[in-house]
Amino acid sequence: MEKPVTRKCSQEVWFAIFTSLALFSVLLCFDYSALIGTEKGVNFLVDKQNNPLVFSKNKTNFIPKNSTLDSCHGKYIYIHNLPSRFNQDLLKNCKLLTRGTENSMCPYLKNNGLGPEIDGFEGVLSNKSWFSTNQFLLEVIFHNKMKRYKCLTNDSSLASAVFIPFYAGLDVSLRLWDPNISVRDSSARDLVDWLSKKPEWKTMWGRDHFLVAGRISWDFRRQTDESSDWGSKLRFLPQSMNMSMLSVEGSSWRNDYAIPYPTYFHPAEDRAVYEWQGRMRNMSRPYLFTFAGAPRPDLVNSIRGKVIDQCRASSSCRFIDCGSVENSCNNPVSVMKVFQSSVYCLQPPGDSYTRRSTFDSILAGCIPVFFHPGTAYSQYLWHFPNNYTKYSVYIPVKDVKDLRDGDIEKVLLGISKEEEKGMREEVIRLIPKIVYADPRSRLNSFKDAFDLAVKGVLERIEELRRVIKEGKDPSVGFAEGDDFKYTFSDWDKKDGN
Ligand SMILES: *[C@@H]1O[C@H](CO)[C@@H](O)[C@H](O)[C@H]1NC(C)=O
Ligand SMILES: *[C@@H]1O[C@H](CO)[C@@H](O)[C@H](O)[C@H]1NC(C)=O
Ligand SMILES: *[C@@H]1O[C@H](CO)[C@@H](O)[C@H](O)[C@H]1NC(C)=O
Ligand SMILES: *[C@@H]1O[C@H](CO)[C@@H](O)[C@H](O)[C@H]1NC(C)=O
Ligand SMILES: *[C@@H]1O[C@H](CO)[C@@H](O)[C@H](O)[C@H]1NC(C)=O
Ligand SMILES: *[C@@H]1O[C@H](CO)[C@@H](O)[C@H](O)[C@H]1NC(C)=O
Ligand SMILES: *[C@@H]1O[C@H](CO)[C@@H](O)[C@H](O)[C@H]1NC(C)=O
Ligand SMILES: *[C@@H]1O[C@H](CO)[C@@H](O)[C@H](O)[C@H]1NC(C)=O
Repeated sequence: MEKPVTRKCSQEVWFAIFTSLALFSVLLCFDYSALIGTEKGVNFLVDKQNNPLVFSKNKTNFIPKNSTLDSCHGKYIYIHNLPSRFNQDLLKNCKLLTRGTENSMCPYLKNNGLGPEIDGFEGVLSNKSWFSTNQFLLEVIFHNKMKRYKCLTNDSSLASAVFIPFYAGLDVSLRLWDPNISVRDSSARDLVDWLSKKPEWKTMWGRDHFLVAGRISWDFRRQTDESSDWGSKLRFLPQSMNMSMLSVEGSSWRNDYAIPYPTYFHPAEDRAVYEWQGRMRNMSRPYLFTFAGAPRPDLVNSIRGKVIDQCRASSSCRFIDCGSVENSCNNPVSVMKVFQSSVYCLQPPGDSYTRRSTFDSILAGCIPVFFHPGTAYSQYLWHFPNNYTKYSVYIPVKDVKDLRDGDIEKVLLGISKEEEKGMREEVIRLIPKIVYADPRSRLNSFKDAFDLAVKGVLERIEELRRVIKEGKDPSVGFAEGDDFKYTFSDWDKKDGN
């Protein structure tokens, strides 16, 4: 990493026409090569190659105010100033956004997208920090957190990444059910046209651009132009193939990344996290296992159907029927109350591979039980430990027929109290990593789900920058399919049981 710096510097010394300019960049080069750790220099080098005079053009932009290294170096993010139709207008017209809500999305927009604060928590939740959060608003919460990100820059030439504050999920929810595909795709096309006309595009042809969606990636991955095929084409548009998207569930394409669903807990300070972790360690958990979900009569032979049958048949399982009126799973208090009283929480795939419930169970210190690698292990790579046996139980179900009556309870009863305790402690330690802290403040001792997502995306882009710098093709492996995410192969081997 150091070599290119010195080479570049000596070149400039020899070829400089204006002595003063050259002297200035040489000074800076030495300065940075001395101060910068290994990988962090790449950013500057790329800028310099594009425009060797960039250092000298405006001194004040590049000289740290004091002689210590700029703590934001390599972390600067530039937020595109999109036309309001791509974000603010959707919020203004929230009455039109009705999917996944009882009436409209409007009440959930309160408190920076966290939703209304929950009161009447009946001793189940802690005071403050709890909100009725709608999962589709992740893109709004993320944007509001990004506005307070500590390393924002208005100078895109300094930025390591470019954030696109497009509310992709809210936008598509207005049109997902429209039979006319050109209507469904219209704003996606407008967005990529807008982006690729901006000067920021050409720096890396969009490979430093990313957006965040509160819906699963498959909703933006319509592969044909058949009107009956699901979703918009956003992620298959040529410009989009050069960008990354973070969402609650990644597809099998490599430039889709999964980040946690938002939960109801949005602490504003470290103390709230410690307090909650302490409470969850201390809970008595009378139920061995729990499943919260709605039966799907149309999915008779599904894992979910089997899970419900096995839960109903066991006296140590608590089933919360989200389909029935009185047990509404939309009530955070009733869901959290049961999860807090259970040792294990079953997380079978449903309509899609992932579930918000996974994160609610972690929040409650309830050890998740997975049946498919696509529900968590191949998804949340930036947030969950690599070794999944540390925090979860895996009962792979390739074929529903293989899951025999009583199997789930048998597996869970076979786990020792000591192993159980170890997993629960790991789950409780995960809590800060999977929550989105209140955008209006910041945690000091923890990296939350947002921080880890930003770290992940910056590292990914830095890696691409390295590839480009080495003269290699960044498109290799970038937007390719990776069906391995949804097969059982490697996840079984990794288990080692
Ligand atoms: C140089 O940067 C400073 C601070 O960002 C800004 O106020 C000034 O207008 C810039 N000057 C030029 C010539 O770009
Ligand atoms: C120097 O700047 C860095 C980064 O902005 C900052 O963290 C540090 O506290 C500053 N040091 C002094 C002595 O001002
Ligand atoms: C929580 O709020 C209730 C009512 O506002 C109050 O009585 C109680 O002391 C509070 N508990 C804590 C731990 O702050
Ligand atoms: C960027 O520019 C806007 C508008 O001029 C300003 O409000 C904001 O503080 C600037 N942000 C940074 C990080 O300089
Ligand atoms: C679909 O919508 C577009 C744009 O509104 C319109 O021009 C086109 O005629 C529509 N196609 C069909 C088949 O209705
Ligand atoms: C995508 O990136 C490649 C370079 O990696 C570039 O050649 C291509 O033009 C880009 N596509 C668009 C639509 O900008
Ligand atoms: C845990 O429970 C015990 C007894 O029920 C209580 O004395 C202790 O204060 C609790 N600890 C926490 C952190 O809630
Ligand atoms: C994974 O974690 C489990 C439980 O902590 C441990 O027994 C096992 O050795 C770990 N496996 C690897 C490959 O680190």
